[in-house]
Amino acid sequence: MPIKIAVPKETAPGERRVAMEPSVAAKLVKLGVEVLIEKDAGELAHFPDAVFADARVVDSAAGLYAEADVVLKVAPPTEDELRQMKEGAVVVGFFHAHRSPSLVKLMQERKITSFAMELIPRISRAQSMDALSSQAAIAGYKAAIMGSDLSCRFFPMLTTAAGTIRPSKVLVIGAGVAGLQAIATARRLGAIVEAYDVRSATKEQVESLGAKFLDLGVKAEGEGGYARELTEEEKAQQQEALAKFIGQADVLITTAAIPGRPSPKLVPASMVEGMKSGAVIVDLAAEGGGNCELTQPGETIEHNGVVIHGPLNVPSQVALHASEMYAKNLFNFLSPMLKDGEFAPDWEDEIVAKSVLTHAGEIKHEPTRNQVEGAQS
Ligand code: NAI
Repeated sequence: MPIKIAVPKETAPGERRVAMEPSVAAKLVKLGVEVLIEKDAGELAHFPDAVFADARVVDSAAGLYAEADVVLKVAPPTEDELRQMKEGAVVVGFFHAHRSPSLVKLMQERKITSFAMELIPRISRAQSMDALSSQAAIAGYKAAIMGSDLSCRFFPMLTTAAGTIRPSKVLVIGAGVAGLQAIATARRLGAIVEAYDVRSATKEQVESLGAKFLDLGVKAEGEGGYARELTEEEKAQQQEALAKFIGQADVLITTAAIPGRPSPKLVPASMVEGMKSGAVIVDLAAEGGGNCELTQPGETIEHNGVVIHGPLNVPSQVALHASEMYAKNLFNFLSPMLKDGEFAPDWEDEIVAKSVLTHAGEIKHEPTRNQVEGAQS
């Protein structure tokens, strides 16, 4: 019997994405598996049930979980969802395990095999599976659009009968995947763009997008291509150098993140007070507490005439394309594990070994194991 890959409707508040799209369902079926989709699972991403011609639509979540061998999710499963899964089932999605050790414990007890998309190593071979990147690119694009929407100014230069309007100045802090897409989008909208990152490798990438790289003399390359946390001295140096550029910006987009740490606070209230009236901050780091001291995650506030926007789950706002890209990431991750309609992962493979969170009653991911088991003893 071919295995059943099942896609439930997401239940997290505000989540519009779905872990499947029609062409991926068709490709999975060609690999000899059966695809089940919960009724209305793709509705909020504008994939009505009827477009999943190769999948079988199941009326209820309970019915779906009762049959599922492999469950594909976007947001982490809830305890209730995990309890409905068969013992020994496989679940793939985002987990953010450090935030919910109780879920990991439950998966361990129920012998659920879980693969965390955020743990897939960022090696060349895994680029097509890299859901952190696909979703960050969407967030970066949308951040530029949000900035322009909230601004009281045009982005492009306009020459009109009523005079010439100068283009907006957009400053992007953090030129990772999201930041680079924000730069590209703001440039396409005609803004003058400046960007800054503590990793010097980003200089060339920023410049290749037609933006100016700000060299502030603070470099903080960390492990695995990520940034490290700055020392107090470096932080002070960075803030002093940044203040001038922030004061000139019409729109500031911040995306700075350090793996496993709260978002670095780069923009204190005093810097916001030095900004122009009508300036906008889009703080894409709001999920991790924000890069701006005044950011209120999930809210849009105004301080001294400056709009501070702290959006959460931005990819969900571009639900159709975000689901399409995510489903393709899932397919590229899963398809090497499907052999003759069976689920047969190669546990020695680096990508499999690094992304597995729990398997056969064990917590396989070491930092999570230390956290969960450390908390018990
Ligand atoms: P991220 O979301 O962890 O951080 C965003 C950006 O903030 C990073 O560029 C980081 O350097 C920067 N940042 C951190 N602290 C800062 C500070 N105090 N001031 C200014 N900027 C600060 O990063 P993301 O986008 O996930 O990418 C991280 C790395 O992963 C990069 O080296 C990227 O090239 C690499 N990568 C590799 C891939 C592959 O080879 N498969 C795919 C995607 C990313």
